[in-house]
Formats: sequence, C-alpha cells, structure tokens
Amino acid sequence: MAGMILTLATPCFAQDAPPSPVPLLVAADLREGTDLSGPWHYSIDPFRSGISGFHGGMPDTGQQRWRDVDVRAAMAKDSRVLYEFDLAHSPLASLPSAWLTHAPELRHYDGLMWYQRTFAAPETRKGRYFLRFGAANYATIVYLNGKEIGRHEGGFTPFAFEVTRALRDGQNQITVGVDSQANEATVPPPVTDWENYGGITRPVRLIATPDTYVDDAWVRLTRDGRMAVDVHLDGPQAANRSVRLKIAELGLDRAGTTDAHGDWRATMAAPRALIRWSPENPKLYDVAVTSGEDRWHDRIGFRKIERRGADILLNGKPIFLRGISMHEEELGVDPTRAITPAASRALLSEIKDGLHGNFVRLAHYPHSDVTVRMADELGLIVWSEVPVYWRVAWSNPDTLTRARTMLAENILRDRNRASVAIWSVANETPVTDARNSFLRTLVADVRRLDDTRLVSAALLVERGQGADHPVMTLADPLAEVLDVMAINTYNGWYSQDRLSDLGRSEWHVPADKPLICSEFGADARAGFHDPANKQKFSEEFQADYYRATLSMADHVPTLRGMSPWILKDFRSPRRQNPDFQQGWNRKGLISETGQRKEAFDVLGDYYARKASSR
Ligand code: GCU
Repeated sequence: MAGMILTLATPCFAQDAPPSPVPLLVAADLREGTDLSGPWHYSIDPFRSGISGFHGGMPDTGQQRWRDVDVRAAMAKDSRVLYEFDLAHSPLASLPSAWLTHAPELRHYDGLMWYQRTFAAPETRKGRYFLRFGAANYATIVYLNGKEIGRHEGGFTPFAFEVTRALRDGQNQITVGVDSQANEATVPPPVTDWENYGGITRPVRLIATPDTYVDDAWVRLTRDGRMAVDVHLDGPQAANRSVRLKIAELGLDRAGTTDAHGDWRATMAAPRALIRWSPENPKLYDVAVTSGEDRWHDRIGFRKIERRGADILLNGKPIFLRGISMHEEELGVDPTRAITPAASRALLSEIKDGLHGNFVRLAHYPHSDVTVRMADELGLIVWSEVPVYWRVAWSNPDTLTRARTMLAENILRDRNRASVAIWSVANETPVTDARNSFLRTLVADVRRLDDTRLVSAALLVERGQGADHPVMTLADPLAEVLDVMAINTYNGWYSQDRLSDLGRSEWHVPADKPLICSEFGADARAGFHDPANKQKFSEEFQADYYRATLSMADHVPTLRGMSPWILKDFRSPRRQNPDFQQGWNRKGLISETGQRKEAFDVLGDYYARKASSR
C-alpha cells in the first residue's frame, strides 16, 4: 500500500495552524533549472520488495533498486553477488507521463514503480540545489546516488527536496519509487470515478538558488483594495535582510527588510494605473522580488473576488460564473495526464471560445500549474479543489493530516494565480459529525492561508417528492461555514424523472449565499444518434437533458454560476457498458478526441445569451 512508502509522521504543526510544507519554492516552474523530462528507466515492484523484505524490515541488498551500483559489472566481477533488478538496463519511458501508456501490460498496473535516470551536475556549482517534482501519484520516495533524500504523499501537488550536499561532480543517479495504490486512509480513497494515472505525471527539475533565496512570495489585492506583499526568505542570511518588490509596468518599487524569521510583509495603495484582471481583460504583470543575489519573479494578475449576500463580485461587480468541470486529461484516445501548455490551451479554449465560458471547475484535485497559468492567461475563473472525495476516513488523524497538507500545498502553490477564485474542500461527502469536523478544519485552514478568496464544497442535496415533482433540499450543516453553496444534481440521468418534469422541481437552498450548480450531466457517446426514442447515451438525450436542466436552473433564485459535468469524456474504470462507455465516463460535451456533441451548442448558446444579457 502507499503507506509502505510513507512512515507518515504527523507533521509538527499545532492543530490550529495549517501545515507549512518546506521548501515551498513558489513559482519554481519559472526559475532556471535542469529539466529532467525525457527517457527514464522503469521497473515494476508489485510486492514492494524494494521497500521491505519478505518478513518486513529492510529489503535484501539484491532488491534495493535505489543502490548506486553497476549491476552487470558487479555480478560479472564476483559470482557471489546477486541483484534481482537492473534499472540501468530496464525499459525506457518518456516522463512526465503516467505509466499506463508506457506499455500495454501496464494499462491497469496499480502498485509501486521504480524510475531511474542519470544526469550531469552543473559544471560549476554555487548556492543551493533542489529536486522539484510538479507531481507524482500517489506516494513517492526519492534517492540520489543511493541515499534517500525525501518522501512525499499526495498525487497532485508539487514537492521538493534539497540536494545541495548529495550532488556529486559528473553523473548523478536519481531513483524514484512511486506507489499509486490508494487505501482506506489515503486522500482520495480507493473508490473514485476517474482513472488513477499512477506515476510521475508532471516535470522533475533540478533547480538552483542562491544560498539565501525567496522561498515564498504572495502579492495580491486585499479585500480593502490595497496591494499586499508577503515574502519569506530561506537561507543563512534570511533575517534582517533587505528585500525589494518591483512591478516595473506600474512604476512600483518598494523596499523593505525581513524580520528575524526571514519574513517581510507590507501593504501599499494600489497603483492608480493598475488594470484589474478579469475574464474580459486577463491582464498580467511581471512582478519581481529581489533580495541579495536572488531575483524571484512571477506573472500576476490583480483582482478582487468577494461575496455580498447572494452575489459573487469580481472587482466589485456581480458576476455569473459560466463554466464547466474538467478532469486533468489531455485530448486523445490514449491520454496519460501529460499536460503541456498546448494540451491545456486546447481544452481551456473550448470553454472560453467554444462555450463562451468564463469559469472552469478543475475537478477533483489540484491540476497542473500549467493549466492554472493558462487560465490566468486566457481569462477563466478557476474553482480549485482537493480530492476529499466520497468515502474518506473522517476519523483517521493521518487522513486529516494528508488532506490538510494537500490543501496547504495547493493554496501555497497557487495564491498568486488571479484566475483562482474558489478553494473547494470536498466533493459529495456524506454528512456525519466526523465529516463535519474534518471539513471545518479544512475550511479554517483555507481562511488562515488565504483571506482573499472564497471557500466552497460540492455538496449533496436531499431529494423529496412533491405531488408531481422532485423537492430538492440543501440541508448540509457545512453550508454555514462556506462562502459559496455548491450542489451536484443528476435528476433525469440517475433518476427516473422525465426530462419534461425537471422544470417543476422545487429547490430549498440557503437564501443568503450564492449557489453554484457544480455538477449536472448526462452521458452520450459521440456519434450515437437516436432521434426517435432519444434513449440514454444518445446525443439527442444529452442535448434534451441540458435544455431541461438549464431551464430548471433558471428558476433557482440564488444561482450565480454552474460547472456542468463535464467538458470532455474521461477514463473511468467504473463505466463499462460495452456499447457506449468502454471504460470512459461519457458525460463530456466533447469526446476524448474533441468531437463536439449536440449538447455542446445547447450550453454554448445558453452562455452566449447570459454573457450578452449582463
Ligand atoms: C459525481 C462525481 C463525479 C462523477 C459524476 C458522474 O457527482 O462528483 O466525480 O464523475 O458524478 O457520476 O459522472
């Protein structure tokens, strides 16, 4: 199990403070570095014999995949030597990519995989060096030149380990063990409705920094419209150090000095010339924070998102979020969760241009920073969420630590992204006292880490029956600590409702907060038409389902946005109807190859009318 890699010592944070992952290396994707993408050797280890021996304890030498050894030479030299692996001569795969596309026999592999490659250390080395992983799913252990340098749990957030002292001149050997297997205590748990995509799914880079560098910088507009900057330096000269914030295009140049902990916080009037970010004008600025030899930079948009009563306001004006949900899966018949800028642009452009959207729900886990940056650039507001999904082990303190750490890693990675407006802490989680306490802790963490955004969760609604129509009630106690209500509803798809009855549905939701319909949808196999009977899985049924549900939505008075389920068909092991699904969830408005279905224009026309009626 993933736990085999991790001896999860509960990180040392007081219950009232969120986890603080170190190092953060915020905006490290923009820092200079050596990209280790490309060919890596791989070798499966389904019984995890590289992690522990068959009676437990340390594995035999002959099973230690991470040893810094030339296996062939060692065995040729001494007939007593035995190695039952040889990564340097194992098959190659191009990373980043999930292993299900490395080879046909790996399509359904779920367990521990070892990866290894060598790389040349920089000729002249000065300052500090970090190995940064964009993400690896699910539990990871990393070795450099035969020495363990770190472990991480969580399949969707970045992590980094300092290797300054472990690097050697010439060739260095990196070995990574990634265990994809979920268990009852992981986040997410084993049962979800998406493909697990085990492996190193985002880039691995060797990053160089000065001895003292900018580990975190958060630059934003506060709720009262001022510009605020928080900087944290890491290194021997972090304390009482001069720091500078520059936004050249705005003529902003502000100096400061860090405190004894290496922190600098300042607020200032927003420059008069500041153009606020919006979907219509996604203005980004080059922001630099300099200190000593380090020059940190990011491209940041400035805007305000707030709630006033039942309205969501962007830059002080009410907005309706015209969105759709999206999994992290590129277009194509054999996706491997390798999200390049081109792959991300292709998907998000379908929302922005095809559907006339201004909003995307990045479900059900933190997506690649490539996608969040693309949303910044194209002008899409983002709902960002952690995979606290369905049946989580609410009473397990380790599970809570995992969720809190994942949430903190997500927020601390993306706090500078103007597109991110909503942090979601859960999806469709059954209401119990233990679940309420668990989620309230996550909501409190969001409030402490980021007081500029809204908090939500995709909730379940209770269904009752009126005389001749469904009565839907949102009675989730978590609602009182959320800014935005969000509900998933599938009346007409997973229920026996006639589509013609949906318009008569009765909705009971809190009247004083904005509501987002975070999911509704119906499957259709692209190209399957049944105009006569309109059976389920036909494009005609899906289009009628959208017409009926959109008409119903128009009667919910506090509705301020929607993110129907879902932009694109996606792999799901739970969906095995051989005529229509073949292991894919077909609720996409486009097929896995991007073929638009009839319902695409039903939603696109609805949003075009919404956009013009503002
Ligand atoms: C649920 C869930 C999704 C799932 C969808 C479906 O609401 O949140 O992850 O894919 O319904 O049934 O298609």
